[in-house]
This record gives sequence, C-alpha cells and structure tokens, in this order.
Amino acid sequence: MQIPWWAKLGAKLVLARLPFGYAMWQRLGIFRHGSMDSSDYAIGVFSTHVDRVGLTGRLHGKLIMELGPGDSVATAVIAAANGARAVLVDSGSYIRKDVAPYLALVKALKHRGMTPPDLADCRDIDEVLARCDARYLTDGLESLGQIEGRSVDMIFSHAVLEHIRRHDFLETMKQCRRILGSDGIGSHRVDFRDHLGGGLNNLRFSERTWESRIFARSGFYTNRIQYGRMLELFRQAGFEAEVLDVNHWAALPVPRGRLAAEFRNLTEDDLCVSGCDVVLR
Ligand SMILES: C[S@@+](CC[C@H](N)C(=O)[O-])C[C@H]1O[C@@H](n2cnc3c(N)ncnc32)[C@H](O)[C@@H]1O
Repeated sequence: MQIPWWAKLGAKLVLARLPFGYAMWQRLGIFRHGSMDSSDYAIGVFSTHVDRVGLTGRLHGKLIMELGPGDSVATAVIAAANGARAVLVDSGSYIRKDVAPYLALVKALKHRGMTPPDLADCRDIDEVLARCDARYLTDGLESLGQIEGRSVDMIFSHAVLEHIRRHDFLETMKQCRRILGSDGIGSHRVDFRDHLGGGLNNLRFSERTWESRIFARSGFYTNRIQYGRMLELFRQAGFEAEVLDVNHWAALPVPRGRLAAEFRNLTEDDLCVSGCDVVLR
C-alpha cells in the first residue's frame, strides 16, 4: 500500500520530535541521509562524478571535497585508493562510526583491482580518516569557511544541493567557488523531487511554514530552489554551469492550483524538472 504524502509528512513531524538519536533512526531505516554506507553505491557515485569531469585515472595527488556525504566517509577511502585525499563537509555528524562498513569497502575496492589503504587495525572512525589522510567537517557553511582558498581540485555532491537551507545556498556556492583551484571543477547531481513521495507536494506550503524550524528539522526538508533559479545562483556565485542531463516529469505532478502562491506562476518548463546533472567551473 502506498502511504499518501500528507501521512508521511505528519508521521515525520511527530517521529522527529521523539528523543532518539540519528544512529537509532538510521538502524531502523526511517530517517537516513542517503546510502553512502553501501560499498557499491559509494563506489558508483564516486566514479560517476570523477568520470563526468574527466579525471578518471588522473586523481593522484589531488584534493577532493565531497559536500553532504551523509551516512559514511566512504569517499575518504575511495579517494585514497586513487592516490588522492578527501575533505568531506556535512551539516551534522551522520556517518556510521563503526569500522565494519569501511572494511567491507576496502574488500570491494580490492575486488575491483584497486589498492585501498589497509584499515584492518583501525579501531575507530578517527583512525580510518587518519589512515586515508582525510578530514570530516560537520558545520556546513562554517566548515567550508575553514578550508583554504583555491586548495581543492574537485568538488562533488550527490542529492545534496536541494537540502542546503535556502538562506545558506548562495553563500555555500560562493564558498565552493572560493576553495576551488583555478583549474578545479565541480560535479553535482540535484534531485528536485519532494522527499514525501517523489512529486512536488513540498510546493504546497508557504515559505513561512516550510522554512520554519519544525518543518526544516523533520527529515523531509528540501530548499525548493527550482532548476532555473538554481542555475542563476550558480552564476551569481561565480561559476560557469554546464548542464549535462535534465530529467522531466511528463506533466506537473501536483495541480497548479494546489501550489503555494510563490510557485503558482513559475513556468511549466521550470516546475517539471525533476533532476539534473551539472558541472561547475
Ligand atoms: C539525501 S542526503 C545525500 C547523502 C549522500 N550524498 C548520498 O548520496 O547518499 C543529503 C545530505 O546533504 C547534507 N547537507 C544538508 N545541508 C548541507 C550543508 N549546508 N552542507 C553540507 N551538507 C549538507 C545532509 O546532512 C545529508 O547528509
């Protein structure tokens, strides 16, 4: 049975207020920040972005920044297996802290003929990060501000840009531009679907309700920056954006009359974009 969007929204508003930590919800699979704790998924995401920017086989000595790694620092291990270093920036600490998923990742990388660092004697996540010469920062925008200017060769994010708080989006992009070297490049997968069932039910709400603390902290927040506006903000931050792929809904997934006033007049072209892949230089 498919649970309607409004029931999911209601349940998440209630569940998010219960006094359980993220690790508990992660184990139950109720609130999860993606799937980077799966070896195949993490290797797939990493190679998709590296391939896209033409750096396959050319990562040695490079510094990679992953924005929004979610449930694991897998990118640190995969980067090290490629002779690169990684800095991972999230807006909170959501990673699996036991060593088991990283040992499984090492095995999967070896199986693919790569030479990841030996993590067998690592006792905790700090030792895993140290062995990979990687950093994991968890203060979002503030963490980006701590990264040295022009020090990063590649930035990537996967299903993250739509989650950055609306009021932080432009500044986050400006920070990404600041830390990227002059030959640096970024690759981003953006998912414009709501996180209540994959439509546009998030656009039914006024900005005041949607951006309120209670909504923004219930595990379904997306910033509702639509495709055209997001491209504009990339440019305002100093990036040249090359769109590689755009996905569309065949028709608006929510009747226009149900949208909040601020979205009702957007063009169908803009509203019907459900996802895109973009390279930023
Ligand atoms: C849907 S998860 C995706 C996780 C991972 N990229 C994946 O593909 O499995 C979105 C991630 O974006 C992170 N995020 C939200 N706002 C952020 C910000 N301002 N800076 C960095 N990460 C942020 C969330 O904490 C979460 O880890």
